[in-house]
Amino acid sequence: MKTVYLNGEYIAADKAQVSVFDRGFLFGDSVYEVIPFYQGQGFRLDEHLQRLGHSLRGVQISAEFDWKEILTRLVELNGGGNLSVYLQISRGSSGSRSHIYDADMTPTVFASCSPIKDIYDAGLDSVDGVRAIVTADLRWGRCDIKSTGLLPNILVMQQARQAGVEEALMIRDGLLTEGASCNLFLVDKGVIYTPKRGSDILGGTTRELILQLADENGIPAQEVDIDYERLLAADEVWVSSSTRAVVPVLEIDGQPVADGKKGPLWARMFELFTCYQRDLMKG
Ligand code: PDD
Repeated sequence: MKTVYLNGEYIAADKAQVSVFDRGFLFGDSVYEVIPFYQGQGFRLDEHLQRLGHSLRGVQISAEFDWKEILTRLVELNGGGNLSVYLQISRGSSGSRSHIYDADMTPTVFASCSPIKDIYDAGLDSVDGVRAIVTADLRWGRCDIKSTGLLPNILVMQQARQAGVEEALMIRDGLLTEGASCNLFLVDKGVIYTPKRGSDILGGTTRELILQLADENGIPAQEVDIDYERLLAADEVWVSSSTRAVVPVLEIDGQPVADGKKGPLWARMFELFTCYQRDLMKG
């Protein structure tokens, strides 16, 4: 049985209980992180925790804990190795449903683990490209906060599934924002482009690493506005997230991206990415 963390206790998942009046359950009044651990070590853990701080401040939930200690212990108790850790902090429960909350509520802290692929040892052939639809971005105005209010995200993923594809890219006011649970990149004539960071997208830790690796390796990269025409005319399109690293998009709205094959700059970035991961593993 999987061990989860709930409010200071490490317990079997089937013993963990949260109040029906928890605001995470009633209102989606909660924020979260998804953090990969490889060989028991958090990958870009500091960056994830910085973003968690940003999310908590953004929704005025006060939760000061030793996250590193809590999560590392949870990973150990689940056998270590390669795991993806889900951490959710809700504002807590006051025993009834009310839009108004007290500033001094005790937050509900929950974390669990699930197995993750060891991308750092995988070759280029292990990555399958994905097909995507482009659909309206119906989310709120603070997409930089990693809120558990993911109804628009799950609905667009379901829309993708119904269209027989694996990914949904979202568009707002004529500009691409990101995927349902990933950031977006395109390549045009050897230059990497990605939507500008702001309240329309999540500041992805993988996105930041891709931009850092591009910079360190002399690959030009720019944050720009991307409209639908620019997306469809790209030489390559990628999506990125902590659990999937960087994945090529081969088809959008039924049209192949360039020749519909994984592109050479994606292959280069994937190698740089996995090499960075392997170096980190070696310490
Ligand atoms: N999602 N954009 C959105 C909307 C996301 O939900 C995510 C991550 C990202 C990528 O962020 P990062 O590179 O830090 O993982 C971008 C996680 C994996 C999830 O919700 O499961």
